[in-house]
Amino acid sequence: MCGIMGYIGMRPALPVLLDGLRRLEYRGYDSAGVAVMNGGRVEVRKAAGKLARLAEIVERAPVDGALGIGHTRWATHGDPSDENAHPHTDCRGRVVVIHNGIIENFLELREELRARDHRFRSDTDTEVLAHLIEEAYEGDLPAAVERALGRARGAYALVVLSADEPDKIVAVRRISPLVVGLGQDETWLASDIPALLPYTRDVLVIEDGEMAVLTRGAPSLVRIGGGPVSRAPFRVDWDAEAAEKGGYPHFMLKEIHEQPRALQETMMGRLPDDREVVLDGVGLDAGAARAVDKVWLVACGTAYHAGLVGRALLERVARVPAEADLGSEFRYREPVVGPRALAVAISQSGETADTLAALREARGQGARTLAVANVVGSTLAREADDVLYTRAGPEIAVCSTKAYLTQLAALTMLAVRLGSARGTLEPQRAAELIRGLRALPTLAQAVLSREAEIVALAERLYATEDVFFIGRGLDYYVAMEGSLKFKEISYVHSEALAGGELKHGTLALVTPGVVVVALATQPDLVAKTASNIQQVRARGADVIGLATEATAPALRPHVDTLLCVPAAHPLLAPMLAVIPLQLFAYHVARLRGNDVDQPRNLAKSVTVE
Ligand code: F6R
Repeated sequence: MCGIMGYIGMRPALPVLLDGLRRLEYRGYDSAGVAVMNGGRVEVRKAAGKLARLAEIVERAPVDGALGIGHTRWATHGDPSDENAHPHTDCRGRVVVIHNGIIENFLELREELRARDHRFRSDTDTEVLAHLIEEAYEGDLPAAVERALGRARGAYALVVLSADEPDKIVAVRRISPLVVGLGQDETWLASDIPALLPYTRDVLVIEDGEMAVLTRGAPSLVRIGGGPVSRAPFRVDWDAEAAEKGGYPHFMLKEIHEQPRALQETMMGRLPDDREVVLDGVGLDAGAARAVDKVWLVACGTAYHAGLVGRALLERVARVPAEADLGSEFRYREPVVGPRALAVAISQSGETADTLAALREARGQGARTLAVANVVGSTLAREADDVLYTRAGPEIAVCSTKAYLTQLAALTMLAVRLGSARGTLEPQRAAELIRGLRALPTLAQAVLSREAEIVALAERLYATEDVFFIGRGLDYYVAMEGSLKFKEISYVHSEALAGGELKHGTLALVTPGVVVVALATQPDLVAKTASNIQQVRARGADVIGLATEATAPALRPHVDTLLCVPAAHPLLAPMLAVIPLQLFAYHVARLRGNDVDQPRNLAKSVTVE
């Protein structure tokens, strides 16, 4: 989730670029840079850290010109550093690129380019694009960009300048967003609409697989490998605040809707075929994987709930003993962690104090450590032996949604990888899971398309004062996450229970009108959950069932309202089942008039014990 800004016109480009990048700050960043065309030369300034640092640098060493591009980086490959900040250049400093997204095959491309004497200055995947364009250039920049991209696999928004063609900006979109702002003899380019709003409200969206060539006049749009595209611009009537949220009323809702893309990015390049999972940043070879005698998953809050699903997957898929623990409890229980243990610390921010302390405890006892983190270069990522990044992009709402889903995807890939390496997972089962993972972004989108049903449910139930979430097996862990989401932002009391535990005490609280959300996505457990539902229904509870299309027929007769997600591999069903629960929490909180993005008493990153 990087920020991109571009400008071509008559004004000095630099202030426009800095202003646009500032307006994209909410996308998160760890470094920033600009390139400005100046009389046939491209001048680059860039630095790690906040935009203010770049502003200081250009104050001391200004860059003049009326054409330029700027970038704020949210690292995916390579630590946040001056060298890894964008823009990146080719060997001669004539081709300049900025990029948002991931080039899956950058390692092989870099080796190939190095063998042809290209010199690399950064660890980024982006830099290969500058060198590929350098090689492909034969006097026509758009053609060179198209040829170069023929070699690259992945998702990206790419923006290119060349000193040899100093009157244009070439921009290509494959998955990652890009929009063009239209003016009188000037044109802007950005990764998101808010950056354009001070200048223009006439916007042209670049669609997937298209290239835009920006000049001072009207931009031209072509389909890569095809012909010209004609598309009418649209007029933006959102205010700046709504635009930051992509038109959604809250960041939480925007982030819920970003989940299909976040899943896609998390899996990108890691599932090259149906046989194997390739985890960049995880150096567990077959020998090391076989040597692991126990996996500890440590985390807090939502990430702990992901850890519980991860534990079940590691045991069931990789047949390795696993235990999940809360970061805040782990180090005080005198855990017995041997040198053959693998400690997996899960965290969106990578800065949660208790999770870090748990990682250090495990490492102190000789365990190998692996961070499943979202923020590149965070303390957790730096301290762990290996890092598996979740690539959810910045999560701004305090209430975690897309981070959880991508943590589940990362842990599933880890379980398949360990199972395959240890010889405990049959290739056919591995292939089923890999295919199931690949199908998830589309299925998640299908769940989101049924949001209206959840809105109707929230409208019926928002005044409730008690909600119980029940489930068995994996459904229990998703129920825990559903309950946390719900209480965190609705401020309504809520509890999650393993279905079988109801009659051991909590059933005493079930009285007429109490809402029970019963999850039943696991075919082998539906009948058991149905009998738990009978117990609460007999006491007058209003039961909302949550099933997959495969388990719905068995659940339907037992519930008052049924929510259904598409059929998925049962071990992957949590990644779909949690989405209606996130939406339910969101809409109830909204209807109760709560501050959804910043719930009372809570902070996004908990850096104290
Ligand atoms: C709940 C939530 C928290 C976090 C927890 C851990 O919606 O966001 O429970 O999951 O504070 O945070 P990270 O993942 O940053 O370690």
